[in-house]
Order: sequence, then C-alpha cells, then structure tokens
Amino acid sequence: MSAPNKAYDPVEVAALAPAAVDRMRADALAAIAAAADLDELKAARLAHAGDRAPITLANAEIGALPPAARAEAGKRVGTARSAIRAALASRQEELAAERDSRVLVEETVDVTLPWDRTPAGARHPVSSIADRLVDVFVGMGYEVAEGPEVEAEWYNFDALNFPPDHPAREMQDTFFVAGPKPAERSGVVLRTHTSPVQIRAMLTRPLPLYVVSPGKCYRSDALDATHSPVFHQIECLAVDEGLTMADLRGAISAFVEAMFGEGLRTRLRPDFFPFTEPSADVSMECHVCRGASTRPGGAPCRVCRSQGWIEIAGCGMVNPRVLVACGIDPDRYSGFAFGLGIERSLMIRHGVTDIRDTLEGDVRFSRAFGVEA
Ligand code: PHE
Repeated sequence: MSAPNKAYDPVEVAALAPAAVDRMRADALAAIAAAADLDELKAARLAHAGDRAPITLANAEIGALPPAARAEAGKRVGTARSAIRAALASRQEELAAERDSRVLVEETVDVTLPWDRTPAGARHPVSSIADRLVDVFVGMGYEVAEGPEVEAEWYNFDALNFPPDHPAREMQDTFFVAGPKPAERSGVVLRTHTSPVQIRAMLTRPLPLYVVSPGKCYRSDALDATHSPVFHQIECLAVDEGLTMADLRGAISAFVEAMFGEGLRTRLRPDFFPFTEPSADVSMECHVCRGASTRPGGAPCRVCRSQGWIEIAGCGMVNPRVLVACGIDPDRYSGFAFGLGIERSLMIRHGVTDIRDTLEGDVRFSRAFGVEA
C-alpha cells in the first residue's frame, strides 16, 4: 500500500486508474460468466472478489489518496465491486438452479418401475376342496374316475334307470345338445350329475369297484344367489360283495368329517332316485349349532335355519336294475353311491351366501380360502 500522500492524483495510482479498474471489472465479469459450475464460480469469487483480488487490493489503495480524490476513486471502485458482487450473486443463483434440476433428474427414483414378479394367484376353493375330498377317499382305497361333460343321454339317464319319459329328465333341467338320431336310442346332453360316471366305471373297471368322481355338471337353471347352470358334484360309488347300507353310512360319515369336522352326526331320510333303491337324503348335524338349532344365548341358528340339520347329499344302494344294465350280477354284488354339490358344501362350510361368488373368478374371493399348492 502506498503511504498517505496529499498530492496524489488518483489517476496516477496505477491500480485506481479508470482503465485498470475497468479491466479488473471486465476480467471478473468474464470469469464469472465463464464459470460452468459452482466450484468454478467459487474459484472466480476468490480470484476476483476475495481478499487478494486486484479490485480488493485497489480498494485498499483509496485510503492512501488525498481526501479530495477519495470520493471519485471510491465511487469507481465501489461501482466495479458491486457490479462484480451482483454478477456473482446472479451466476450463483443460475448455477444453483442448474445443479438442483440436474440432481432432480440424476437422482430420480422411478416408483412406476414394473413389478418384476408375477403375483401369486390362488387355487379356486372348489378345486382345493374337491382335491381334499378325493384325497380322503383315495386314502381309503378308492380310485378317481372321470367322464365327459358332454355325455350320451343313455349314460346320463337310461342306464341309470330313468324311463324314457321320466319327468326327472326335465326335472333336472337338462341342456340337450342333440336329440337322438333315427335308429339311435340316445341323444347327447350336458351331464346333469356325475352319476353317469358310475355307469362308465361299472362297464369298464373290474370288480370290486371303489371310485370317487368329482366333476362339472350343467342344468338349465337361471343364475341367482343359490342356483348356477354350471356347478360341481362329487360322487362315490362302491360295488362289492356283501355291501350294505351300514357301509354307505360309514362312507358318508368319513366324507362329512373330512369336509365339515370330526364327530358330526349324519342322518338318512327316505328319498327317491331311479338309480338307487332304497334311496335317502343325507343330512348332517349343523356344524355351527351342533344340532341345538340355537346359538349360545338363544338366538336362532341361521346356518341350519334352526333345523339343527343340514341336507347335503343324495344316496342309496345301487338299484339292481342299474347293476344289470352294466352286466353285473345283482345276486352276487351290491353297491352304494352318494353324490353332492361341491359349491353347496363350500357355501355351507364357509357361510358363502351367493353362489355367484364361486363363479366370477375374482382372486380376492379365492385368496380368502388360502393359497393351497
Ligand atoms: N345324482 C344325484 C343328483 O344329482 C345325487 C345322487 C348320487 C343320489 C348318488 C344318489 C346316489 O341329485
């Protein structure tokens, strides 16, 4: 720094000469403009506005001027310094904004990335229940037997001892696919029950015979909360020497305990099916009120409508005429059979009030039953 000198002409102090100040200012503005990022701007600030920057040093010279000269020199330097400060501030703002938007882009997390796993579906409860029941009977020595859903009328009705004009053919709301051709005795229907599989099994398998037949059936019912034109049945058939209704009851108990829980009693009441004689309907003790017909506290049991019993299946001893139609000697062999609707059992067991829930294929319904492999 120069010593105080009252005779100084500011213009003659080299650092304060207008051209010098203009150049410092121009250099500073150029460096600020050229700074490509915040680090470069920091370096430019240090070089052109820091303690050792030319303009800062020039500013320090002002104090050495004679008082009369200070104002003018101070104004020149001050203007240059504030121009530099303003340029620094605005470039700082620009570069910070650039950095922020670059960081936003570079560090973006795409929360919309596609899910890279296939969500686990769920087995339909009708399939898992059918499998479970089949397993119970396979465990007792039964074999699985299946038959076509588009079935000859002969298997669905005639061989099961439905006379040709028997109202049951209409009672079962049959979907007729094709009428009998001339000289043929049988038309084609969508099977109305799984009982035709009994006939197929008796005609093709050796005796003794123990089969379980799950499958889809069709009836021309209008779809409502309790009826569906497509549903599933499961049926058991046994043909052996010396079978009696006691064996039938045992098989039914095994079924009911597997499906609804151990220790539930069953009850048979007389009924009629052309293919069984005698025939019965099967009821089980209500699995909710256990036959009491009321809930604890006295409220009526809604599950069995206060009956204490729930009707679940049809059954009987295979009609000897059916055995004969299948070439089996009814004097040597006897058989029993029972069949029931799987959806209906499912609804009873789980309190499903609308059969349509079992048809719509909504995974949220199926998942509630657990994801069984
Ligand atoms: N097939 C009969 C029905 O659909 C049920 C049944 C099966 C009855 C086996 C007796 C024996 O109604």
